[in-house]
Amino acid sequence: MKIILFGLAGNEELTANLANDLEAEIGETTIRQFPDGETYVRILSEVKNKCVVLVATLHQPDEKLLPIYFLSQTAKSLGAKCTCLVAPYLAYMRQDKVFNAGEGVTSNYFGKLISSFADSLITVDPHLHRRESLTEIYNIPSELVHAANAISNWIKENIENPVLVGPDSESEQWVSKVANNAGAPFIVLEKTRRGDRDVKVSIPKVDDYKNHTPVLVDDIISTAHTMIETVNHLKNTGLKPPVCIGVHAVFAGNAYEDLQKAGARVITCNTIPHESNQIDLSSLLASTIKKTMKHD
Ligand code: R5P
Repeated sequence: MKIILFGLAGNEELTANLANDLEAEIGETTIRQFPDGETYVRILSEVKNKCVVLVATLHQPDEKLLPIYFLSQTAKSLGAKCTCLVAPYLAYMRQDKVFNAGEGVTSNYFGKLISSFADSLITVDPHLHRRESLTEIYNIPSELVHAANAISNWIKENIENPVLVGPDSESEQWVSKVANNAGAPFIVLEKTRRGDRDVKVSIPKVDDYKNHTPVLVDDIISTAHTMIETVNHLKNTGLKPPVCIGVHAVFAGNAYEDLQKAGARVITCNTIPHESNQIDLSSLLASTIKKTMKHD
């Protein structure tokens, strides 16, 4: 099927990489705010009978959702065969249960909303914690790209004698894969979160790894408190300065600077554009798009 890519603001570099790998065209749009703050959307390229791929990573998702929705609907009104949302970072995956009475399970509502206008979804390592798969949340076909191999390769090329550290039980799924692929040992800590920025992580037992470099691996770095707390524990162990690797560079507020100040080298995948991006997942995303769209 013939595809045309549209990169939403901030996704230009990834969109260009994907277009290059897929030998596909990049569509042109005008998206702007009317004086009253409403969103104006116009598609300038031919989309008839094509599959429209919307590239929009979804950190700070609230402001992005309406333009994506309008683009998807406009494309269909112009005869697009299908629309596929490529959201390397998928938002709202962490509110996956009612933690306090009166709360909504917003991961479900968000999934329902996206499923109502996109025909398929491609994302990278969504935060599947209490859910087995995205099909429990999304009613549309979804494909997942996994960053583990790319992270292992980066570690193999850049870190001598690593010991991988997962800051909480949820991270075990990523850390164990990354460690196995990198041929490195790993430990997993326990975390208690009492508030957005109030995180306690257990003290790592690293007596067997005195000559190793600790490499912390987690899916999301948001406030960075999980990583900072772990880095602070590691400082008291006499191990080499740690490297923190996150798949998704969400970095709320000053999180990135704070983590660096704590004494860590910070590396991320390019699912959210950020200066810490060192691990490129464009080719993996491109081959997944190719497979999903049966693009020739
Ligand atoms: C949640 O369990 C995730 O895997 C991350 O550990 C978490 O989102 C990190 O959040 P923060 O950077 O705010 O501590």
